Amino acid sequence: MTLGPAQRAKALREQIVAHDYRYYVLDDPSVTDAEYDALMVELRQLEAAHPELISPDSPTQRVGGAPSPEFRPVSHRVGMLSLDNAFADEDVIAFDRRAHERLASDGVAAPVDLLYSAEPKLDGLAISLYYENGRLINAATRGDGTTGEDVTANIRTLRCVPLQLRSAEQTRVQVPRELEVRGEVFMPTEGFMRLNERAAAAGEKVFANPRNAAAGSLRQLDPRVTAARPLQAFFYAVGHWQGVAAPDSHHELLRWLAELGLRTCPESRMVRGVEGCLAYYRDLGARRAQLPYQIDGVVYKVDARSLQEQLGQVARAPRWAIAHKFPADEAITLLREVEFQVGRTGTLTPVARLEPVVVGGVTVSNATLHNMDEIERKDVRIGDTVIVRRAGDVIPEIVRVVLDRRPQHARRVHLPESCPVCGHAVVRVAGEAAARCSGGYSCSAQRKEALRHFVSRRALDVEGLGDKLIEQLVDAELVRSPADFWALSVAQLSELPRMGEKSAANVVTALHERRQTTLPRLLHALGIPGVGESTAAALAAHFGSLQRLMEADQAALQAVSDIGPVIAASLRAYFDDAGHRNELKRLRDPAGAALEWPEHEGRKPTAEGPLTGLTIVITGSFTGITREEATEALQKLGAKVAGSVSGKTSLLIAGEEAGSKLAKAQALGVRVVGEQELKTLLSGQPI
Ligand code: IVH
Repeated sequence: MTLGPAQRAKALREQIVAHDYRYYVLDDPSVTDAEYDALMVELRQLEAAHPELISPDSPTQRVGGAPSPEFRPVSHRVGMLSLDNAFADEDVIAFDRRAHERLASDGVAAPVDLLYSAEPKLDGLAISLYYENGRLINAATRGDGTTGEDVTANIRTLRCVPLQLRSAEQTRVQVPRELEVRGEVFMPTEGFMRLNERAAAAGEKVFANPRNAAAGSLRQLDPRVTAARPLQAFFYAVGHWQGVAAPDSHHELLRWLAELGLRTCPESRMVRGVEGCLAYYRDLGARRAQLPYQIDGVVYKVDARSLQEQLGQVARAPRWAIAHKFPADEAITLLREVEFQVGRTGTLTPVARLEPVVVGGVTVSNATLHNMDEIERKDVRIGDTVIVRRAGDVIPEIVRVVLDRRPQHARRVHLPESCPVCGHAVVRVAGEAAARCSGGYSCSAQRKEALRHFVSRRALDVEGLGDKLIEQLVDAELVRSPADFWALSVAQLSELPRMGEKSAANVVTALHERRQTTLPRLLHALGIPGVGESTAAALAAHFGSLQRLMEADQAALQAVSDIGPVIAASLRAYFDDAGHRNELKRLRDPAGAALEWPEHEGRKPTAEGPLTGLTIVITGSFTGITREEATEALQKLGAKVAGSVSGKTSLLIAGEEAGSKLAKAQALGVRVVGEQELKTLLSGQPI
């Protein structure tokens, strides 16, 4: 029997929801990404042919929501409670005792050791989702607990939030007619750090911590911005429900939510009595830094619902639950000095030197200040008393200055006029936020960073040349510039401290394995300011050879679709520098280092294939593939991969944290797809 399009669309949606469930909730996918993508492709095609079949809860419609002009108020059906805090073990013991006493005075029989459900206290922001007959109707922030803000269009972009709960046929449990479910939206630490690194590099405002980043991302007027941010959610409570029998305990509630497709925290455990609670607290505390997200404590909840109801609530907090906070990861200390570190392209980054202070169990004596703008925004001065925060693995930061304690002699921070490492002039390029040392390779700090970059994974990709070794090589003056790497001998290397003959030989072998490289990799490796991976690829494709690129004047450079006056000038300055020209000559010299890279074929796509004729731009980052790998693979299939979006772009593939290219594509009406579609394309299927 063949299904009609409507039935087929329904079946596809159900399958996709079932796979999402296995992927996000069970963390146990049963199909390959390609198989999953094939279902999405079929559904998209079906919907394209039969637009009347598109339903708002279709998995194809996540980023479709119209941007809301403002965040309308939403009344919660049941108020969103907060939790009392416990800071010491005694507070937890007292909480458990109060629960026992209250139950006893109410004449309720309770076990000697109450059963608790223990789970992390997630450091994100609370949200409430409302589902009707299994369909997501709206999503709201906590607000004042009674009324929150409507963030539906933004929440819909989170892939782990089901638009449709699993249907009665798919689950063993009943789907409620109405469900108001509560959880936490958060930004995993790694995604947060990447977001901030990019913001700092672009001279933009950085987020103080993952919670602020999550809140800022959710409160975006344009859901496409939210879609590009790495947000996740865990669900842990229900406000209101109708049409089902409520589970009898918290742990069953969590299981029930997971059955419906709502992701729950994998760290939640059943524990017995206060002893069980405290053991859980200590275990999680010890593992805190390894968790991929930030937590600021644990929450204990009396497990049995009958007992929860008996205990009730006081003011805005339940009597049956408490948050046991980890010791504050903020501390107060003195800012003794601000020093400037010199990065790969000479960028000066201010670093705070602090009076050492213990924050979250670790002694902190340095904190990043990101850039001069950040110093001005926070009005940080040397001699100030400052609040320092350290969250998990996140680099310590200065939260704010305690202005009351500012001494008279507090000094403003000035950008140095000369590089603190090499003494060359510090320049601020017009149109750029960053200040740079102009010393180039003659600055040892820049040299170390540049050398590190040269051999890094996305550049020449030499294994075994770690930071420490590069540091030693530069300090011992064995390596001054990239070409020197290839002149290193096993004998020289094995003379370095902590370097055996075997490791020395491995390094030399690894270097020689990378002698054959490609023009895009070489151009990226050079570390020319403004020339990242995609610009390097665009330059290689346009000019075809290093020689032609070096000969191009400013106008010829700007003719490359990706390149504006700033990068063109940066390229010219780089190639006009005698030192750089000499270095390139050495890199190519068959008697010396002799890197080899084939000429790049000009504008013509490198291969004929199913994607011939398409001009594709890739932006953002992907989880399963690097941009460079994707570029190479798409080119093999015949696509032209361009470095910037223009009217000629056929398709933009946007990963996480896509920025200006995504905005431009949207402005130009260029089709935008994500990593799933990229995988589909690479598996040779149409999208
Ligand atoms: S339960 C009665 N569980 O903490 C239920 N809250 O101080 C109240 N939070 O606004 C919430 N992790 O944003 C609960 N596992 C967890 C939590 C959690 C974080 C937050 C939530 C709430 C605040 C209460």
